Amino acid sequence: MKQPTQLTVNGETYEIYVEPWKTLLQVLREELNLTGSKEGCNTGSCGACTVLIDGKAVKSCLVLVPQVKGKQILTIEGLGKDGLHPLQQAFIDHFAVQCGFCTSGMIMTAKALLDENPHATEEEIRKYLVGCLCRCTGYTKIVESILAAEEIK
Ligand code: FES
Ligand code: FES
Repeated sequence: MKQPTQLTVNGETYEIYVEPWKTLLQVLREELNLTGSKEGCNTGSCGACTVLIDGKAVKSCLVLVPQVKGKQILTIEGLGKDGLHPLQQAFIDHFAVQCGFCTSGMIMTAKALLDENPHATEEEIRKYLVGCLCRCTGYTKIVESILAAEEIK
């Protein structure tokens, strides 16, 4: 049964009616039309659905909507709201996007990392991205982009 639910996403508050068993990823994509977060595995393995919840990188396919009540959710749409974020620009400049399916999850995960550790080393970046899979790039361009974004942040 649908229940009234309040969500705060990208600084905006939404009042919606939704079944409490829906995941945050489903609601972002199907109810709020925020389709930048991708559904890859839907089991917490690929990272394509990663968003920030109160500043922490979280796989939104593993979170039920009632769990995010009162929390601040940031998606890739919110990150680029006022122009491209340095991470987005760096991914473009360093050709880190091929099919693009992993890209928003990679960028949101990298955003959480750089907020915690603005001078992360290559090794630290690779460890932090361990939950994010990319089938196209071989990761090198992604890591180069994150290192480059550290310089322009
Ligand atoms: S879709 Fe959420 S981790 Fe793969
Ligand atoms: S760019 Fe295709 S999965 Fe990463």
